[in-house]
Amino acid sequence: MVVSARIEASKIGVDILRKGGNAFDAMIATELALAVSYPSAGNIGGGGFMVFRKNDGEIGALDFREKAPLSASENMYLDKNGDIIEKLSEEGALSCGVPGTIAGIFSVHERFGSLPINEIFRPVIELAENGIVITKKQSDRISEFHNDFIRINSNEIIYNRTLKENDTLVNINLASTLKKIMKNGKDEFYNGETAKIFVDFIQDKGGIISLEDMRNYNAVWREPHVFQYKNLNIISMPLPSSGGICLNQILKMIEPFDVGQYKHNSKEYVKILVEAQKRSFADRSHFLGDSDFLDVDIKKLVNNSYLEKRMQDFSFESPTSSSMIDFGNIYSTESEETTHYSIVDQYGNAVAVTTTLNSTFGSKLYCEELGFFINNEMDDFSIKPGYPNQFGLIGGEANKIMPGKRMLSSMTPTIVENDGKLYMVVGTPGGSTIITSVLQIILNIHEFGMGMQESVDAGRFHHQWLPDSIRVESSFFDKNILNDIKKFGYNYYDKGPIGRVDGILIKNNKLEGGADKRGDDAAHGF
Ligand code: DON
Repeated sequence: MVVSARIEASKIGVDILRKGGNAFDAMIATELALAVSYPSAGNIGGGGFMVFRKNDGEIGALDFREKAPLSASENMYLDKNGDIIEKLSEEGALSCGVPGTIAGIFSVHERFGSLPINEIFRPVIELAENGIVITKKQSDRISEFHNDFIRINSNEIIYNRTLKENDTLVNINLASTLKKIMKNGKDEFYNGETAKIFVDFIQDKGGIISLEDMRNYNAVWREPHVFQYKNLNIISMPLPSSGGICLNQILKMIEPFDVGQYKHNSKEYVKILVEAQKRSFADRSHFLGDSDFLDVDIKKLVNNSYLEKRMQDFSFESPTSSSMIDFGNIYSTESEETTHYSIVDQYGNAVAVTTTLNSTFGSKLYCEELGFFINNEMDDFSIKPGYPNQFGLIGGEANKIMPGKRMLSSMTPTIVENDGKLYMVVGTPGGSTIITSVLQIILNIHEFGMGMQESVDAGRFHHQWLPDSIRVESSFFDKNILNDIKKFGYNYYDKGPIGRVDGILIKNNKLEGGADKRGDDAAHGF
C-alpha cells in the first residue's frame, strides 16, 4: 500500500510493488511522482527524511535534508543594523539550500533497490510527459501564488498561467531532466550538465549555491531516534530533525497521566498535551540543531527523571504560562508545505518519508529549463537568534547558519512497533505542527482505539511554547470544551487545517490506509 498526497503518486508506487519491486523501489517512484504531480511540495529541488523498517526488523533513517551553501554565513539575512531583511530567507534564490532529494533516492536505490533505476523512473517520466490533471485544491493554490510567481520569476514559467480544475498540465522540461538523471545517475544532478544549468540559474538570480556545493552534497544514513511509550517501540527521525526527540519528550511527559482514561479531545486531554508540548518546544528552540555541527546531549533531554521534573509544575487547576517556561537545565557536561507518504510492501518492509520545499512552492523560484521549483529551506535556520521563523518557531545559537550545515527540521516520519511487530507508518506536513500531529495520530490509535482513517480524520490541536496560544481545528471541537479551555486561561486560535497525515495501520495482517481529506491525498493498495 502507498498513501500519499496524490492518487497518481500512490498508483505509480503501487505499480512498482505489483511488478515485484519493494518498498524502497516504490519510495523512489513515489518521491519522483510527487515532484511531477504535487509541485507545491513534492520535489527534486528540495529534500527530506526517510525512516524504514525492513521485514527482518532492521531499522534505519536517511537524511537527505538540504544544506547551507558553503558561502552562507550567520548574518546573511540581516541588514547592517542587524535587523532581519524581510522575506530574504523565504523567497527567491538566496533562500535556497543545496537540494538533497536526488542524492536521497540514489542512496536508497544503492542500498535497497531491487528493480533497475530505468524501470522505476519510466512511469514518472511518462506522467510528466502525458500530464497531470489539476485538482480544485491545486488550481486554488496556483492562483493564490500567481503574483508571487510573476514577481519572483522574471521569465515565463508553466505555472504563471491560470490552471483550472481538470486542466491537464504537461511538464516536458521536468521529463527531460528526469531522463538525463535516469541515464547518468546522481552525478547528472550534482556534477553534470544539469548541475551546471542549475547553478548558473541560481547565481543569475542572485543566489550563492555553487558547483562545489553541489559536488559536496551527500545524503547520510543515520541511526533513527528510538524510544518506548508503554508497549510501543517508536522509531522516528533523529537530528537534524527535532521530530523524533520532541515526540519522545512529549510522549514520555504524558505517559504517567495515562491519557486514555480521559475522553478524546476533552479538556483534561488538551491540558496534559498542551503543557507537555510547550515544554518540549522550549527545549527544541534552545538545544537543537544539526548534530554534525554541535554536540547535543540527547540522552539527557529524553531522560525520564529530567522529563518528570519538567512536568512537576503541571496542574489541572491552572495553565503554566509560556513566559514561566524556559528550556530545561540538562546540566550538560560538554560544551505550510511539505508532504508525507507511507508505504508497506507485500514483503513486510515499511518506509515513512517526509519531503519538502519548505513553504508552498518553496522559494517560488522555478527553474523553467529544468522544470522544478527550488526550496526555501534556509528559513528553517534561526536567521536571528530569538526571532521567530515563518512557523513562529524561535531558534537559538544551536540552529544558527554555518556553511554546509543542515537546518533544524520538525519533520517526523515515524514507524511504530507494537510488541515487536510493525504497527503504524505515519507522518505529515505542517511545519511545527508536524510533531504534535504525529503525536495525536499515535495516541488516537493506541489510547482511543481508532482506526487509521478515523484517526487522520479527527480534529487536532497544537502548542509550540511561543506564541503562548493553542492552535485548534475548532470545527472539530465541542464548543463547550473550547469555552472551558478559554475560561481555564488558554488562548486559542484557528488558522485552518493542521497537517495532512498519510498513514498505514497494520493490524491482524491487514493494512488500513488513512489518507487525509484535508488535501487530495489517496491510499492505494492491492
Ligand atoms: O523541515 C521542516 O520542519 C519544515 N521545512 C517543514 C515545512 C512544512 O511542513 C510546511 N508545510 N506545511
